[in-house]
Amino acid sequence: MSETTARKFNLLPMLGHTKGKRSPVTCALKCDNACAGETCNTSSNSYFRDIASATMSRRAALGFGAAGALAVVLGSAVTSAEPASAAGLSKAAKEGFAKSKLQFTAIKPVDKAVDAFTVPEGFTWQPIIRWGDPLFSDSPDFDLNNQTAAAQARQFGYNNDYTDILEIPDTKGRRAVLFTNHEYTNESIMVPKGYDAKETRAIGRAAHGLAVVELERKNTTKPWAYVKGAPLNRRFLDDTTYELTGPVAGSALVKTVADPSGKAIKGTFGNCSGGTTPWGTILSGEENFNGYFVSGGTSDGDKRYGLTSKATARQWELDDDRFDTRKPGYENEANRFGWIVEVDPFDPTSTPRKHSAMGRFKHEGANVIVAESGHVVAYMGDDEKFDYLYKFVSKGKYKEGDRKNNMGLLSEGNLYVAQFTGSAPAAEITGTGAVPSDGSFDGVGEWLPLVVDGQSAIKDMTVEEVLVYTRIAADKAYNKNGGPTKMDRCEDVQPSLHTGKVYVVCTNNSDRGKAGKEGATEVNPRNENRDGHIVEITESGDQTSTTFNWNLLMVCGDPAQGDVTYFSGYPVDKVSPISCPDNVAFDSVGNLWISTDGAPSGIGYNDGLFKVTLDGAERGKVEQFLAVPREAETCGPIIHDEERTVFVAVQHPGEDGSFEAPHSYFPDYVEKTTPAAGQVRAPRPAVVQVFRG
Ligand code: FEO
Ligand code: CA
Ligand code: CA
Ligand code: CA
Repeated sequence: MSETTARKFNLLPMLGHTKGKRSPVTCALKCDNACAGETCNTSSNSYFRDIASATMSRRAALGFGAAGALAVVLGSAVTSAEPASAAGLSKAAKEGFAKSKLQFTAIKPVDKAVDAFTVPEGFTWQPIIRWGDPLFSDSPDFDLNNQTAAAQARQFGYNNDYTDILEIPDTKGRRAVLFTNHEYTNESIMVPKGYDAKETRAIGRAAHGLAVVELERKNTTKPWAYVKGAPLNRRFLDDTTYELTGPVAGSALVKTVADPSGKAIKGTFGNCSGGTTPWGTILSGEENFNGYFVSGGTSDGDKRYGLTSKATARQWELDDDRFDTRKPGYENEANRFGWIVEVDPFDPTSTPRKHSAMGRFKHEGANVIVAESGHVVAYMGDDEKFDYLYKFVSKGKYKEGDRKNNMGLLSEGNLYVAQFTGSAPAAEITGTGAVPSDGSFDGVGEWLPLVVDGQSAIKDMTVEEVLVYTRIAADKAYNKNGGPTKMDRCEDVQPSLHTGKVYVVCTNNSDRGKAGKEGATEVNPRNENRDGHIVEITESGDQTSTTFNWNLLMVCGDPAQGDVTYFSGYPVDKVSPISCPDNVAFDSVGNLWISTDGAPSGIGYNDGLFKVTLDGAERGKVEQFLAVPREAETCGPIIHDEERTVFVAVQHPGEDGSFEAPHSYFPDYVEKTTPAAGQVRAPRPAVVQVFRG
């Protein structure tokens, strides 16, 4: 990275702090150097009490088949996945884990220098939509060297993360909507050196937000293409109004001079993962919002959320006072971010919403399941080292086909934070990742209440305060065992609709066990956890239960490199090496698919997408399906295995390059040829479809 680039984005102090594969540029631009910063959670809650003699129920180990009966197929009511009614199981769930139609031979890990999108033998790939592609009939074509904010606002944005594709009903599978969010920007590789600074900032703002784009295909065996000018196409920009719902709407904690109502918020930033609801809407998590604001940096709220007084990486505060919460009238502006956003992709005139009842933190995403009781339950991770796992339970009940009712479910309900207790003696949790003597990492857990029946469960905090300062409220929650469990960065948290089990992806935490920091616990069993792990939760009753059993599905890494790993007992020399799990999805028969954001310790591999068998003799088997190009992250997996096709978002390809010296030419790859219409000689984040052919 050139010094100019570093200066432009205030990166210099951070150079060299990253460990493993993630680049300092990604750290600075995506998460405001959260890894290098102070730990936001300095609470002394005694989170985790290992109990020496476990007396927990072993229903979890037995599969708890009845839990499957609680599930409905989320999203699939409107997607091509096999339809299921709210009252019943998907077909696959009824018949047990069938063999997927998507068969492949795992690829080998791909060296980090390789700027290629790699798929298994017999498969091919193509981008569906790329950064800069024109969305509307009046959108200008992408002009790499002459970008403007006005053009970007009418084109596909940058760094797509959460992605889903929902079929439009009554189109015989030939028409669908694609949703993606646009998490963050890297102006150093987006625009030429010396480009007008103010216009560059405006281009960056216009490249953030969300997008809905219609897709079409000739028939269900052909790949999708996006449709320019389609009626449902939409960009959500920094001036798009989001309605704040729930108990915080209208609160003094979220009012600003520009919005005295405290209910109408402009824009969404730092959106990471998400989820798709059973009623066909999309949820998107506002994650590293703190990186967009200059703040006092001294209040408890600022400190707990990582808000500081330094200039932001993108310096939007130079153009708009609302990005500096020290400015009169904007003291609460940062409180208006850090929420779960809900979008109706089927109604281009709908107002997107931010749901305050689901709490405010660095939301990775939210995944919804309908409990047997009819309440909807959303699982949510706070992606910060030593932060928590949350669960929301709606007050109202899901009514199949009653979209108006269902659209209101996330606006009111109970909020909980997770406490895990391990079964092994503390002495057996050595911090290496070695399995305790009983053969598995497991235990019991409790959902500690934060808000219940409209009342605050936290002493001296109102409901509004609990929901705006959810991290601080969670620090104060406790039961006889102590407080909530400090986790190794929860990314996607997703229930399987086949078993009801919930998969909690902990991507890594290189600070665990370091001086002054909490050490390994049974549920986060590795010190300096560079490779991450995955927790499997089985609720005790239906999904609304306040107690659960848990076990680890895997402790990631590369056994060939000497990493201590665990794959539910599957032979460690027979798995694809996997590290830094991030987003997950399920295929139609219940296998778990994992996309990664980092390579195994000490090696440089490109990120990838991996299939994990959850059931039967091969439980724990990890097989790599694809690898993304140089310096990219794999995001937003969608597995349409019945159609033998898979989709991923390719985020930040060529992140460490510069505009003048790109590190990637994905996906157009026209470095040495003349670009055709619409192609450019620059890396372009894109949504990719992989299919047989
Ligand atoms: Fe944007 Fe939690 O990764
Ligand atoms: Ca993520
Ligand atoms: Ca997911
Ligand atoms: Ca990540």
